[in-house]
Amino acid sequence: MMDVRSLGYVVIESTDPSEWQDYGTNILGLMNVPSDDGSVYLKMDQRPYRFAIVKAEQNRLRYCGWELADEAGFKQAKEELQAAGIDFTEGSAARAKSRRVRGLIQLQDPSGNELELYWGAELDYGKFISPRGISGFETGFNGDMGFGHAVLPASKLAETHAFYTDVLGFGDSDYMHFHFSPDPNDPGQGLNFMHVNNPRHHSLALYEDAVNPVACVHLMLEVTDVDEVGYCLDRVHAAGIPIVSSLGRHTNDNMLSFYMATPAGFAMEFGTDGLQMNWEGFTPTVTSLPSLWGHKFNMPDA
Ligand SMILES: [Fe+2]
Repeated sequence: MMDVRSLGYVVIESTDPSEWQDYGTNILGLMNVPSDDGSVYLKMDQRPYRFAIVKAEQNRLRYCGWELADEAGFKQAKEELQAAGIDFTEGSAARAKSRRVRGLIQLQDPSGNELELYWGAELDYGKFISPRGISGFETGFNGDMGFGHAVLPASKLAETHAFYTDVLGFGDSDYMHFHFSPDPNDPGQGLNFMHVNNPRHHSLALYEDAVNPVACVHLMLEVTDVDEVGYCLDRVHAAGIPIVSSLGRHTNDNMLSFYMATPAGFAMEFGTDGLQMNWEGFTPTVTSLPSLWGHKFNMPDA
């Protein structure tokens, strides 16, 4: 079974990457990494960067980068994809260089979300110096817990969930079911939370959603100090950035967080105190309440 270790990076498309440079540094407190290729790179730990923002015709999440342990794991992943009849594209040397990894492939999940599987991520040991004084982001030892989590739209929820669990080897963490419509015949929407081989409660969740032009529901970043959540909330208010959800504490991962708008049109969850799990003998849960308190959602022009 494939052994995915973490959600290492995302590639975001933007009509104006400079908006992300401003938002990423001044609001999120990430460090801008100088580049000469027209893209914006944002750093939060010993990894060269966690967010790459590339100029494009639209604003959307383009790729989630999933980390494999080593070259043997990478070869095994390709063999398992072939055996499962799933197409993938070999990443070029130039692309691997720009991702700061030793090798990668690109593929799509059954709902059309694009992903990369890579091995050999570089550490540059460049000191993380937050322009907003954030002491650190929770990313584990050498960044091995990944940058946070992603919630992606899945028009084909069951098939997409099976792709991540049966083919990519993700483990189930939790399942929730929402029923927003007053129509009793509306089946509602499912939400599958999954973990990879690190203690973070979930690195990926899939939300049943037929149409999502920005290819992402939200991304999550985790700081190590609760006051940094408060300071960020103050910066968001001062900048007039829409709050997508008020401060609250989630049930399943215990995250104390709020959600804000981003320049891409999906949301950013900014939180702390997420659970770190021991998966040995873990029984996946079904949760009927998303938050213990707070998290009043306020979808901008939804
Ligand atoms: Fe989240």
